[in-house]
Amino acid sequence: MRDATSAAHRELDAQMSAFDLATFSGYRRFLQASAGALLPLEAALVEAGVARMFPDWPERARSAAITADLVRLGKDANATVSVLPLTPSGMIGAMYVLEGSRLGAKFLLKTVADTADPRIGEATAYLSHGAGHRLWQSFLAKLASEQTCDEDEVIEAARSAFAAFEQAADRA
Ligand code: HEM
Repeated sequence: MRDATSAAHRELDAQMSAFDLATFSGYRRFLQASAGALLPLEAALVEAGVARMFPDWPERARSAAITADLVRLGKDANATVSVLPLTPSGMIGAMYVLEGSRLGAKFLLKTVADTADPRIGEATAYLSHGAGHRLWQSFLAKLASEQTCDEDEVIEAARSAFAAFEQAADRA
């Protein structure tokens, strides 16, 4: 999956890096871009029954965290991209992208931690979400134990999830 999505990740990384997270407006646009894809993807996961596949879903969901950050910065998280309904295999692909985004978030949090603007430091529920809970590692364990999924569908959904983030970043 990493190979199948590495080009998409590189592009998204470049796109997201264009937001200057050390400035109030740059950080807010970054959060809006992230929310624009995260909210509809998490909604599609819930709709598809993600909590049956991942019983710890409440611990993984970040819609409330990113919405709270945006509210703190005086913005609603409303301009979301549209995503297609997910099949069970599709859920795994979407979860791969969302859980993987925590790895980038950990790195971005360091940039944010260095900024002098206190408003930014008070709105990091999304970037710091799940830190120390080994959610990526437990996701990988779950991925390895999944026997019945359709690999093409998983990859297709992962690519679509990356595309949703790219679209949301274009619009932010
Ligand atoms: C500027 C933004 C980003 C940076 C700097 C970044 C950085 C990174 C880094 C350093 C890793 C590897 C960490 C490791 O192997 O321990 C990683 C992995 C990953 N990132 Fe990002 N990332 C960013 C944004 C995103 C976003 C927005 C998404 C998804 C929406 C994402 C999805 C992933 C995935 C799925 C992986 C796992 C790859 C794998 O090992 O299979 N990243 N990222």
